[in-house]
Order: sequence, then C-alpha cells, then structure tokens
Amino acid sequence: MSTWVNENSVTFFQLFCIKVVKCGRVPQHIAFIMDGNRRYAKKHRVQSSKGHSEGFNKLSETLKWCLDLGIPEVTVYAFSIENFKRTDEEVNGLMDLARDKFQRLLEEIDQINEWGVRLHVAGRLTLLPDDLRALVAKAMLLTRHNNKLRLNIAYSYTARDEITRAASQVIEGVRNKELTADDIDEDLLSETLELSPPDLLVRTSGEVRLSDFMLWQISDTVLYFTDVLWPEFTIWSLLAAIIHFQRHATEPKPDIDLSDRKRTFTDRLEDKRWQLLEKYVT
Ligand code: FPP
Ligand code: MG
Repeated sequence: MSTWVNENSVTFFQLFCIKVVKCGRVPQHIAFIMDGNRRYAKKHRVQSSKGHSEGFNKLSETLKWCLDLGIPEVTVYAFSIENFKRTDEEVNGLMDLARDKFQRLLEEIDQINEWGVRLHVAGRLTLLPDDLRALVAKAMLLTRHNNKLRLNIAYSYTARDEITRAASQVIEGVRNKELTADDIDEDLLSETLELSPPDLLVRTSGEVRLSDFMLWQISDTVLYFTDVLWPEFTIWSLLAAIIHFQRHATEPKPDIDLSDRKRTFTDRLEDKRWQLLEKYVT
C-alpha cells in the first residue's frame, strides 16, 4: 500500500462515473485549498493533529482520483506562511507530519516512480527546519523525471511572497544584464513564478476566501467552493467540482511564447533552483 497514492480508493461504479465525466473536458490542472481539518477534528472529538493526518490521507485518495481522471497537474495549499503564527504545538505537529510523509515518499520511491508522480514543493523553503528542507529537496530531485502527474505542494507559501520573489529575480536579471527593463511584462512574470495557472480551484469547508493562494495565476480560473470539510471530501465532491468546471470554463489560453532572451533567463532560473536543491540535500 502506497502512502502518497491510495490505490484502494475507487470502486467499479465510481470508475464508471469517472469515465462518464471524462467524456467532457477535464481540467488539466486543479488546485485545492484543503480547508477544515481542525473543524473535522472537533466534530469527531479528536486532536487537531489527527484532523491534519486525515487531511493527508484525503490528499492521497484525491491523487488516485486525479490519476484515474487523467489530470496531469494538481496543486495543494498545505502550509501558508501565515500558518507559522499558529501555536508551536500545531506548527510542530504539521512539520512532523510533513517529515513523516516525505520520509515515507523516499522509502517508497519505486512506487512513486511507477505512478509517475513528480513532486514540487513551492514556497519559501528557507523558513523550513533544515532536516525537512533536505527531505523536500531530495523528494523533488528524485521525482523530477516523472511525467504522469505533477503534484505541487504549496508549503511555507503565500501568493504575495511568490510574486515578490519573482519580482526580485527579474530585477536581479536586469541588474546582471540577462534581461533589459523593456523585457518586463506579464508573460515574463508569469513564467518566473513557481506555479502555473490552474483551470479549476476548489476550496473546501464553506470558506469563500482565497487566503493569498495563487493570486496571480487564477485570473481565468473557475472557482468552486464546497461546504464539505477537507477530510470528508469524496470522489462525488470532486466530480461535482469538475462538472461545475465543464459548465463554466471558457476556451483555454494558448501557451506563453517568450523571446529567446527571456526564455534563456527563465531556463537559467530553473537551473539555479535545481542547484539550490542539490545544496539543501548535502
Ligand atoms: C487547513 O485546515 C489545513 C491545513 C492548515 C493543513 C493542511 C495539511 C494537510 C492536509 C496535510 C498535508 C501534508 C503534506 C505533507 C502535504 P485548518 O487547520 O485551517 O482547519 P479549520 O479551517 O477547520 O480550522
Ligand atoms: Mg482553516
């Protein structure tokens, strides 16, 4: 049994319904704000750490559903920079949960590679404890060649921080003459950000805020809010979200075509990111 992709989560009837929904347009990138873990814990009279671990289990079920639906990219909001303000007990509990899950990912790397899951942790990794940062970097490096499903985990992340980091990278590019000031436009900034635009954004637990998540990327995204608490999210909740997308989506935008100089800049940035990850591991 794999920790990150729960293969037992789909019945024959559910597979049939997945096939029916797949007759329409399926989003190629879904983002989730996985909210409601502590309310779930309260409702079931268990510790909030149990709510978060049930939240992780729901993520592994959701990944299997997305693989069955043929969705190639999933982004989840797992820990906001704001979440560092929660009690030490809760922050440490969430860091321990991440340590445990990334450790397991490394132990089960053959299974992850078989599923073809590529992991990307997006956010300000310098704020993480050294050992967790090393685990996360290793997981990204070891799965970088997988191409069936890209899982972006926004961790130590806020959108405004992501945009700020991208702006300072562009300024640095101008300063060291990789770019000119005239190169700065929306396309360049979009390609400098860590995360790409989702087709559909789902937030659970009845909250209808964006909480500083992917603010730049969601200008054309279909939004779906549901009252269900994240640990209680089901395949039916996901299919309802996709049907909502099918009713409201507009034509997909064409891929961004950058000039050679701008592409050289973003490619170099990507190389630098990988080099930094290698450094974090050692
Ligand atoms: C929001 O619910 C959830 C979080 C802050 C944490 C989400 C984390 C997971 C689902 C586990 C992911 C772990 C890894 C390693 C990817 P909340 O705490 O805001 O609950 P509430 O809204 O009911 O108070
Ligand atoms: Mg919440």
